[in-house]
Amino acid sequence: MEIPRKYLLSPILSLILLSFIIVVVLRPCQLLEFAPIIAGSKPAYSVPLDSLRTKLSSENQLHAVGNSGELRRNKFRNRTATRKVGKLEQRLAAARAAMRKVASESEGERSNLSVATTARDDSYHRYVPAGAIYRNARLFYRSYLEMEKIFKVYVYPDGDLPIAHDGPCKDIYSIEGRFLHEMEHGAGRFRTNDPNAAHVFFLPFSVTWMVKYLYTPLSFNVTPLKKFVSDYVRVVSTRHPFWNITHGADHFMLACHDWGPHASQGNPFLYNTSIRVLCNANTSEGFNPRKDVSLPEIHLYGGEVSPKLLSPPPDTAPRRYLAFFSGGLHGPIRPALLGHWKNHDENDVIRVYEYLPKDLDYYSFMLTSKFCLCPSGHEVASPRIVEAIYAECVPVILSEYYVLPFSDVLQWEAFSVQVDVSDIPRLKEILSAISEDKYRKLKEGVKAVRRHFTLNRPAKRFDVFHMILHSIWLRRLNIELR
Ligand SMILES: *[C@@H]1O[C@H](CO)[C@@H](O)[C@H](O)[C@H]1NC(C)=O
Ligand SMILES: *[C@@H]1O[C@H](CO)[C@@H](O)[C@H](O)[C@H]1NC(C)=O
Ligand SMILES: *[C@@H]1O[C@H](CO)[C@@H](O)[C@H](O)[C@H]1NC(C)=O
Ligand SMILES: *[C@@H]1O[C@H](CO)[C@@H](O)[C@H](O)[C@H]1NC(C)=O
Ligand SMILES: *[C@@H]1O[C@H](CO)[C@@H](O)[C@H](O)[C@H]1NC(C)=O
Repeated sequence: MEIPRKYLLSPILSLILLSFIIVVVLRPCQLLEFAPIIAGSKPAYSVPLDSLRTKLSSENQLHAVGNSGELRRNKFRNRTATRKVGKLEQRLAAARAAMRKVASESEGERSNLSVATTARDDSYHRYVPAGAIYRNARLFYRSYLEMEKIFKVYVYPDGDLPIAHDGPCKDIYSIEGRFLHEMEHGAGRFRTNDPNAAHVFFLPFSVTWMVKYLYTPLSFNVTPLKKFVSDYVRVVSTRHPFWNITHGADHFMLACHDWGPHASQGNPFLYNTSIRVLCNANTSEGFNPRKDVSLPEIHLYGGEVSPKLLSPPPDTAPRRYLAFFSGGLHGPIRPALLGHWKNHDENDVIRVYEYLPKDLDYYSFMLTSKFCLCPSGHEVASPRIVEAIYAECVPVILSEYYVLPFSDVLQWEAFSVQVDVSDIPRLKEILSAISEDKYRKLKEGVKAVRRHFTLNRPAKRFDVFHMILHSIWLRRLNIELR
């Protein structure tokens, strides 16, 4: 008896379906290993974006978003593009595998690294991270080398000056301009002009310039900022296919201005899905450390770091003050600090000022204090942290909901002190209780970490520009595109 053809076909169909399930449904799970192995080795990287990755990889997300048919067609219609993405993903998978290997090896070696070895510091070119300032120095180094080998950023050409392709290079938000300029005019090996070869796409606008050119002073109306961002995303997602493919998950913006997070609300996918590199990294205002990047705030008065901070005194020079702060009564934390400590220390070892008297010098205090108090102001980030590092004054972090910059790789405890805001009245007691030996180690840490907060023009390996890129790289590494 002859079996009807349709019954013959069904096993073949099930096979095809099965392989489809294996390829499409199970493959992303393999990737998830990256997270537990790394998370398992104690602090290590805290980035894993499993939920984001799952979202991107699963059908659910595409349905939930609506227009799913159209998106899927966009995704697979252009075969050239799809094939290239496959190749990019292969390289990223190899980088993940190399990092996984290091992560699993380094368990036993970590103690050796943090105790015995100090970083070989001959030059930026031969620098090998080592020492207590890293969560896992070898893993960071491997990740950094992989980044140097393959990571490529595409900078959208769209948008006009002054708000796009430029940013401030003086004053408190200068990191915005310095990063933008480095990305646009430097960035050599990391920049690609071929979007099909890019791992991430940069939206090169400046929120500080939006505030300067679009905001009506004292109106407290951030709508024009949101509108600019919304328009920008609309333009690039219409002119280029890349935004729609991932809903912006492999796109990033960078803003140091306090209103960066507000501006990013201009597009819900930018806010929820893209990598937002922000100084205002307040987790209770939507900053998501799993996909967003905390950006250090660096205050460049005339466009440069003050010469005083370039040559801190030798270790043998005494630091006569225990702690120093000077700054306005802004935000939720400083009232407690100024309330307790302004003009309040009888032995004169804690110097806390609201406005520094004209005859006293801010940086001289930093250079002659053991600890520099860095409370949040209107927003969580403070330029004092980087200034303290330059001045080799151990930063004392007084903040809530703040994700510290580069905390995926840096062990902040090794070069700073975090004091709970509720312990502000006990500041003197807490800082006095830090032994001379412990203080010496913290100061060594501060000196060792300086290179990661240094701005160079052009940028040099392991400096702040590269640390920002590395943070973006880590987040991109955790997203798989298919
Ligand atoms: C696919 O995309 C690439 C780059 O975006 C483009 O050069 C190419 O012409 C596209 N091919 C088709 C068939 O649309
Ligand atoms: C740690 O250092 C000791 C001595 O310096 C060495 O014998 C040992 O093999 C090291 N451990 C690892 C895991 O490298
Ligand atoms: C991306 O999606 C938007 C809205 O869904 C659409 O208007 C736009 O044309 C799409 N872009 C491309 C390049 O297809
Ligand atoms: C973004 O996240 C918010 C809060 O979780 C949610 O209400 C909104 O629908 C999300 N938007 C998109 C486009 O996913
Ligand atoms: C962080 O966000 C929370 C919630 O909006 C806010 O109460 C707090 O003041 C913010 N922190 C700073 C320093 O602005």
